[in-house]
Amino acid sequence: MPLCLGVNIDHAATLRQARYARDPDSILVEPDPVEAALIAETAGADGITAHLREDRRHIQDADIFRLKETLKTKLNLEMGNAPEIVAIALKVKPHDACLVPENRNEVTTEGGLDCLTHRNALTDTITKLHDAGTLVSLFIDPDPGQIRAAADLKAEYIELHTGAFANATGPDRTRELQRLIEGAKLAHAVGLRINAGHGLNYANVRELFAVPHLEELNIGHAIISRALITGLAAAVAQMKSICAEYPL
Ligand code: PXP
Repeated sequence: MPLCLGVNIDHAATLRQARYARDPDSILVEPDPVEAALIAETAGADGITAHLREDRRHIQDADIFRLKETLKTKLNLEMGNAPEIVAIALKVKPHDACLVPENRNEVTTEGGLDCLTHRNALTDTITKLHDAGTLVSLFIDPDPGQIRAAADLKAEYIELHTGAFANATGPDRTRELQRLIEGAKLAHAVGLRINAGHGLNYANVRELFAVPHLEELNIGHAIISRALITGLAAAVAQMKSICAEYPL
């Protein structure tokens, strides 16, 4: 199966909120993350990812409902396991939900989810999401204990956290890549489907292709940043053509 590209459109909303957070009813509120999502789909995105954070710093509730109504591909709702956000997810019924740890002070999602410590709370939310028809992904570090716990929790997918790999250099980078390779092998062996994301960009993504069994990459910052220079359609199409190089 070819490697799919999920485009994270949070940062289109970041730009909108920078100017219009206090004036959401202004006549010209732009950029619209839903419009960005539709352009990304037309340019080849296989899905759209958006993170409804508790502090609503970028994506807003209305964006999520509009995305669900408008997308022709699929909505992957990234979410912390907070009751208020879970209640919204159960109304929206996204195709996929990716559970992430959320700390209000972080700039972006930092570590992976701890599926061992939060096993009970996660079991409850995963059951509710499954009952709503949503497939569940758990955003975790490539740690064998976490991978086994994700399988025990009956998530369909894990999303391997590639942030440590993306930030590392020299021998650390080789080690982080090896952890991702071993993590993907173990996840596949225990029946999980495997996505990856965080910190991926046009320069480092090919290196990640040494990791087997990947189904989808979720990429945000690099694509939205490049879009400022090339336009969003070209930025998405370029990343999509790199994804096509993934060995089948
Ligand atoms: N996957 C997850 C679970 C994330 O939290 C993020 C950041 O929102 C991404 C992927 C995308 O990361 P980036 O913006 O670095 O491409």
